[in-house]
Amino acid sequence: MSLASALFLFSCIPSLCAAVSSDPRGLPPDPLSRRASKSIPSQGYYDPLQTGGDMLTQVPDTFPAGLGEPINVILSANSDAAVLVDQQSNGGLRNYYQSLGFSSECLGQHSGSDQAANLGDGNGYKNETAVIRWDYGDPAFGTCTETIEGGNHFRYWVQNGPNADSGAIFMALSYEKPIALGHDIIVNGYNLARDWLIGNATGQAIPTANLTNSSSYSGSTSADGYSYQTSVQYVSGLLQNTSDGINHYLTVGVNGSNAIDGLVAVMEVHISARPAGTSSALSMRPTAPWSWNLPTLLNLGVLLILPLFALS
Ligand SMILES: *[C@@H]1O[C@H](CO)[C@@H](O)[C@H](O)[C@H]1NC(C)=O
Ligand SMILES: *[C@@H]1O[C@H](CO)[C@@H](O)[C@H](O)[C@H]1NC(C)=O
Ligand SMILES: *[C@@H]1O[C@H](CO)[C@@H](O)[C@H](O)[C@H]1NC(C)=O
Ligand SMILES: *[C@@H]1O[C@H](CO)[C@@H](O)[C@H](O)[C@H]1NC(C)=O
Ligand SMILES: *[C@@H]1O[C@H](CO)[C@@H](O)[C@H](O)[C@H]1NC(C)=O
Ligand SMILES: *[C@@H]1O[C@H](CO)[C@@H](O)[C@H](O)[C@H]1NC(C)=O
Repeated sequence: MSLASALFLFSCIPSLCAAVSSDPRGLPPDPLSRRASKSIPSQGYYDPLQTGGDMLTQVPDTFPAGLGEPINVILSANSDAAVLVDQQSNGGLRNYYQSLGFSSECLGQHSGSDQAANLGDGNGYKNETAVIRWDYGDPAFGTCTETIEGGNHFRYWVQNGPNADSGAIFMALSYEKPIALGHDIIVNGYNLARDWLIGNATGQAIPTANLTNSSSYSGSTSADGYSYQTSVQYVSGLLQNTSDGINHYLTVGVNGSNAIDGLVAVMEVHISARPAGTSSALSMRPTAPWSWNLPTLLNLGVLLILPLFALS
């Protein structure tokens, strides 16, 4: 760990207790009864554009005002119900993200501005549920590296309002530069971030420049004893192939390329293997997503030692 990382961690400590005891940004698990009664369109989500929503986020304080970032990945509601539950346990969404190499923010500390999205579900604009970052191979501390060094990250929202309650997860991916460079987005950084995530989920390099609305990929990942089979279909029509209205459009789209190619990757995820002794029935245990567990206690142990190390 570099000194910069150590000092960054050190600076987080005063609010640590609040951060580890509960994560106010996590959603409570979806009750089983609600999911059972959902009517999900065959494509696995409601198109937000049909009901007054938007596939661009609202970003505060852009120049010019009103620029947004593309929601360029959808985790389809045709996925297994357990994967759509925002929790670490029982093979839930956070464990799936971990299988792709992504974890929640450094020590539970939220950094970066909030962005709002309107999924056309009747909830209007809502800030992201959470920000998830590339963990550089280390689910416990790697996202601290991402915050400092930059890398792939995303915000996500759940389409669960009264008018379009699919339960699909909408994700806005971008690949950011190091914090010292103001967390701008790299050249082609929306398309590349989307495709690196899809590459991580399917175990192959995705040819960004050659994608069309008939491209599809599949592959598998695993974490914590759960294996996930992911099938991906790229679709057009939800986003435009454009630079208009896109945050950082001047530096993301260069040499005549548009900032975004207009494709959204729709992922359908099924659990193909689970730890022995667990059942495929949805767990009804009322566990908070980030309640006390062994990794948390280990983190805390390291944090108590870290200040000594940073000062020495
Ligand atoms: C999003 O969060 C910001 C604070 O970061 C707050 O000012 C804003 O009102 C929130 N927006 C919505 C739509 O909830
Ligand atoms: C997985 O993600 C990392 C970080 O974004 C990226 O460098 C790598 O190319 C991705 N793997 C694939 C196969 O796309
Ligand atoms: C994209 O397509 C072109 C023309 O078919 C081909 O030459 C090139 O190798 C492809 N690029 C990738 C990354 O697959
Ligand atoms: C795919 O894109 C082409 C234009 O490139 C368009 O004509 C066609 O309707 C699209 N197909 C689907 C299924 O969206
Ligand atoms: C854009 O084009 C210029 C001139 O050909 C080249 O030097 C530069 O590397 C290109 N930038 C990117 C990101 O492709
Ligand atoms: C986006 O538009 C450019 C031309 O501006 C074109 O070359 C490219 O193939 C289009 N990409 C997709 C995915 O339709």
